[in-house]
Amino acid sequence: MPSKYVKKIRNLPTLPSILAKLIGTLDDPRSTAGDIEDILRHDQSMTSKLLSVANSAYYAFRHSITTVRRATVAIGFAEVRNICMGLSLMSFLHPGSFRNREAAESLWLHSLMTAEGGKVVAGQSGKQDQDIAFTAGLLHDMGKVVLAAFFPEDVDRLGRYIAEKGVPYRQAEFELEMDHQTVGRALANNWRLPPMFAEVMGRHHLPTPYNPYSELNATVHVANYLAHDLGFGDAYDTDAHELGPQSLEIVGISQVRLELVREKLDERREKVFHLWENLMSS
Ligand SMILES: [Fe+2]
Ligand SMILES: [Fe+2]
Repeated sequence: MPSKYVKKIRNLPTLPSILAKLIGTLDDPRSTAGDIEDILRHDQSMTSKLLSVANSAYYAFRHSITTVRRATVAIGFAEVRNICMGLSLMSFLHPGSFRNREAAESLWLHSLMTAEGGKVVAGQSGKQDQDIAFTAGLLHDMGKVVLAAFFPEDVDRLGRYIAEKGVPYRQAEFELEMDHQTVGRALANNWRLPPMFAEVMGRHHLPTPYNPYSELNATVHVANYLAHDLGFGDAYDTDAHELGPQSLEIVGISQVRLELVREKLDERREKVFHLWENLMSS
């Protein structure tokens, strides 16, 4: 049954043009650091946030980084693009404008950790582009973000329903016809995101083989699981998260390798926190 939100989200704001352009460069193997400089040229606030992240203790460069060009040389073009996508998406739907700011902040922190996790999982499997996996992880719960941002009464009602009935979060979503994956897929279509992101936004809790984006979707599913497992869950859904039965198989990593991924991701928590704090302070 189609979610009642599918029609409503057609009236929501369109994706900021900077973000759309950054996502567009993912599709183009010829994109370079120069493209990022062009995209950021007229956005001073984004540039200064990027430089603050580039100068953070996580990267520990000896000299301070004062230009976008230097940041792309020092950190790498793809990493700078990922940072800018995160910053831009979070500025667009800033937690400060949410009714429940704390919950919104936790959801963004969760999204950043899932994005970083997607990159680490893709690095281990060797089957996915790491930056596409990062972006898919960043976007995976956008349905939930948009529900919380634009339909706060309904999200409050969902919370009360869970408390009263004692049902799991995902079940309550279905019973109240507000499944964040259905909303996410509609949102992706509305924003004209590439189909691979629509698939992840619409199916990350149920990885299945045999569709064109199975591996990317399962990669994000595993990253989402690890984010929850490492304490980067979101305050809207506090249920325990299990790995889907075929997910590791679809991604192409073993249980042993999953432990390695968990360790690597755990080492990146400081970086994720710093990116997140940068947005919160703005
Ligand atoms: Fe989700
Ligand atoms: Fe998630």
